[in-house]
Amino acid sequence: MIERLSSKSEVRAAVAAARRDGKRVGFVPTMGALHAGHLSLVQAACARTDIVVASIFVNPTQFGPGEDFDAYPRRIEADIELLAADGVEIAFTPSAAEMYGDGAAVTVEPGPLASRWEGEVRPGHFTGVATVVTKLLSVVRPDIAFFGEKDYQQLQIVKRVVADLDLGCQVVGCPTVRDEDGLALSSRNAYLTAEERHLALALPAALEAAEQAAAWGERSADVLVALMRDTVAERAGGALALDYAAVVDPETLEPLERVDHRARALIAGRLGSTRLIDNCSITVTDREPNGA
Ligand code: PAF
Repeated sequence: MIERLSSKSEVRAAVAAARRDGKRVGFVPTMGALHAGHLSLVQAACARTDIVVASIFVNPTQFGPGEDFDAYPRRIEADIELLAADGVEIAFTPSAAEMYGDGAAVTVEPGPLASRWEGEVRPGHFTGVATVVTKLLSVVRPDIAFFGEKDYQQLQIVKRVVADLDLGCQVVGCPTVRDEDGLALSSRNAYLTAEERHLALALPAALEAAEQAAAWGERSADVLVALMRDTVAERAGGALALDYAAVVDPETLEPLERVDHRARALIAGRLGSTRLIDNCSITVTDREPNGA
């Protein structure tokens, strides 16, 4: 049976009771409009902890002016049914007033990890994310919190916030879930027209091109980035306006010149009014470029 709680004090009390029973607490923060990607986080949480709390809160402070806060899909009743079916015991559904009172003066600045990529395109976004995640973790106090690798920069920032502020929980990143054709699941895919949905496949195709080239021994990050850009241009032409394509260090997110061991390819762009992001791990082998 799922319990739907909308106040911080109720969640604190419910989690404290579970802890008194010796249960390990898992936490999956979401903004709702749940899809199989979110549910994979719930499944990971259920497998590793004894009681799972999921939050549904469309956090206004992580949306910039002109972004899709008002349009962001909201279907809380259906979401709660999905969470219940997958074994979540507590759904935390606070209002903005419950989370922020009259508006909070203190925010969490996530530091250099937030300066590039999404942070550059969406100023203030990661301050909103870091602040709300810190607040949610302070309310729930989970043993383990689960985040998707789909938002790779967010995952790295959350890990850093938890470490630097001694929030005392483990942060687990879970693999991106994709549709059969490779498109990463995202609540924002709902905005795409059928034609845009097809053009959006340029993003996973670009990542795959970089991944393949690296697997065949290409070590120049510039070459991999050019490959990503060319793939997007070929598949989507001018319809997909790239914000960035990058090959970065997987922890610092700084751009690399050469890919000598592990790296992450990041890509983001706009199709009409919809922003999409994606990423993948890059692993190099000892082969020479072009299969020599
Ligand atoms: O990834 C999301 O859905 C949100 O950024 C999060 C982590 C729930 C914070 O609002």
